[in-house]
Amino acid sequence: MKILVIGSGGQLGQEFFKLETAHELIPLNHAQVEVKDPAAVRACLQKHQPEAVINLASFNRVDAGEDQPEPAFTVNALGALHVARAAKEVGAAVVFISTDYVFGGESGRRRPYCESDPPAPLNVYGASKLAGEYLVRLSNPRHFIIRTCGLYGAVTSHKGWTFPELMLRKAKAGEKLRVVNDQTLTPTYTSDLVRAILAVIEKGKPGTYHLTSAGECSWYEFAKTTLELAGVQADLEPVSSSEFGAKALRPAYSVLQSERLAELGLAALRPWPEALRAYLVEKGEVPKTTRAGQGRGPARTGEVPD
Ligand SMILES: NC(=O)c1ccc[n+]([C@@H]2O[C@H](COP(=O)([O-])OP(=O)(O)OC[C@H]3O[C@@H](n4cnc5c(N)ncnc54)[C@H](OP(=O)(O)O)[C@@H]3O)[C@@H](O)[C@H]2O)c1
Repeated sequence: MKILVIGSGGQLGQEFFKLETAHELIPLNHAQVEVKDPAAVRACLQKHQPEAVINLASFNRVDAGEDQPEPAFTVNALGALHVARAAKEVGAAVVFISTDYVFGGESGRRRPYCESDPPAPLNVYGASKLAGEYLVRLSNPRHFIIRTCGLYGAVTSHKGWTFPELMLRKAKAGEKLRVVNDQTLTPTYTSDLVRAILAVIEKGKPGTYHLTSAGECSWYEFAKTTLELAGVQADLEPVSSSEFGAKALRPAYSVLQSERLAELGLAALRPWPEALRAYLVEKGEVPKTTRAGQGRGPARTGEVPD
């Protein structure tokens, strides 16, 4: 399949181009296409005549979104509409990557969210991605809306770090780590995710799909497991979201589960600790052939990732 990847310069985008695949993947970075500009998007799709378009362009700065709703909605909602419409015009399917942050407003919930659960975002970023979902659904019947969560991988994000990378860097520098322990999510390895996205598209059945690694943990548990697997000692302290004081509200629980992958005959992604170990092997933090080391002491930053 000829597939355009918009937002190819980002964390997830670059991961697609590490894959060995029979598909013809065409990268389009931000300098090559601006999703806010419908004419530019249309021209690009008309030129390439793809069979599918994966739209990864996103305004991801969750805290900044509270004060800047306009760029969040212009990129995440209107940009998504422009791509979905232009894809329809050339007879292509559209893939829109959405987020676990479309959920979380249901206070006290501790059950994973399936595709059929009603969304209830808590922050502007989540609301803008949800608006994008609606616009994609109504403008292109051949849509794949993929909700995912807590991305990390060997490609460093625009922030200059991914969460496990930051934990290891700070721990190795002897810095104390203060990590939020009252937000439960599923960290998701981008290398697994890109394969799963392509597998879903290949099935050709449009709709909304939850794609994350399996299982759940808090950011604190994610940090602790990273440090233990890598055998790095650290001074790790759990803190509450209110102590951490991020601008945007984040869900206390936003674990996703899929009731739709099985309908496609696809298996769930592997459990997050297994994927995390594979990531650490890829980064050279853990040797490929030996079992991961156990933690040798209390593990340790004060960052809540987007
Ligand atoms: N990261 C996570 O933990 C997470 C969790 C759930 C869902 N997601 C979703 O996963 C997708 C990929 O995320 P990511 O982490 O790979 O994001 P990313 O690293 O920020 O990549 C996004 C890419 O889109 C480009 N872009 C931004 N605005 C654009 C615009 N107006 N027109 C064209 N291109 C534009 C960016 O280019 P510039 O950098 O040059 O602007 C960047 O290369 C996003 O839809 C995000 O919402 C991410």
